[in-house]
Amino acid sequence: MDLDPVIRNWLELAAQAPSSHNSQPWRFRVARDGVEVWTDPERVLPVSDPGGRERVISVGCAVMNLRVAAAADGRGLNVRPEQAGPGPYVRLLNTTHAGADLQTLPLLKEWIPRRRSWRGRFRPDPVPPEVVDALVAAARQEGVWLRPVTGTEPRREIVRLVREATREQWRNPAWRAELAHWMRPAAAGDGLPVGRFTGGLTRWAVRRLVSPRRMARAEARVASGAPVLLALGTGIDGPMQSLAAGQGLQRVLLEAARHGFCARYLNQPLQLPERRAELAEQLGRGHPQLLFALGRPDGTPRATPRRPVELLLRT
Ligand SMILES: Cc1cc2nc3c(=O)[nH]c(=O)nc-3n(C[C@H](O)[C@H](O)[C@H](O)COP(=O)(O)O)c2cc1C
Repeated sequence: MDLDPVIRNWLELAAQAPSSHNSQPWRFRVARDGVEVWTDPERVLPVSDPGGRERVISVGCAVMNLRVAAAADGRGLNVRPEQAGPGPYVRLLNTTHAGADLQTLPLLKEWIPRRRSWRGRFRPDPVPPEVVDALVAAARQEGVWLRPVTGTEPRREIVRLVREATREQWRNPAWRAELAHWMRPAAAGDGLPVGRFTGGLTRWAVRRLVSPRRMARAEARVASGAPVLLALGTGIDGPMQSLAAGQGLQRVLLEAARHGFCARYLNQPLQLPERRAELAEQLGRGHPQLLFALGRPDGTPRATPRRPVELLLRT
């Protein structure tokens, strides 16, 4: 299919979005009046995300990148979330109306390819309060809330939830198998990259060797030592709110990248319904969708692969 080079560039940028296990669960349909972003029904994580909540959040992240890309090209898009049989999708319709995106989003474009998730240690540098305020405002622009976890006692409780949820997940052989399944050489174009020759051993270790207790301790250490711990959530819970959460998350992450900060996800409590309920109670508001630490990475985050645009098109 001959794609308009401008649209191709938008889709390439959209596909740089983060996604659970780098599963890239999005598909695009280019129509005469705009672009549609759909969930890919084949890219599912039945163990860690049985309801598809994170899948829709990931699609929301891709939608935000598309909005940023279009805004940077001075093109207005009317964003219309829709509900269809297998899940929600988003229509981004061309419009001559200059919406708020054209003013606020273009400066984020250069950060789309530079944003990365981080899995290592953070440098001890604090995240300045004005940066946290800017992130809270970015989330609010998308109709979602972002809440820094402050105070020793609330943080201790959340560290406990991260520790317990991590241990529960690593004690589940099906969860471990699903994670190992998504670990593959970068040439695959998706998943979590592992060495071409050492990948088999890494997958075996994930399936059989890694100690749940050790993982739990390591994740708890990240949660307790991170410069800032942030929860992002919505007032009600449902597919449309997951789409908004994804757009909010990506807007926050791009804004954070602009200031040199990276996210380290700590979503384990959100992937287990009882732990998620406990987290909601602890935070005292709405429905938490994501939990992550933020800081300056003590190293260079590695790029993860993406599939070519041709494989992402839906007719
Ligand atoms: C909804 C969502 C949930 C995620 N959950 C986790 C997680 O629990 N643990 C983790 O290490 N990374 C998590 N990630 C990060 C992805 O693994 C990461 O986005 C993907 O590997 C691509 O890498 P990149 O973000 O550096 O481009 C999540 C990302 C999204 C969008």
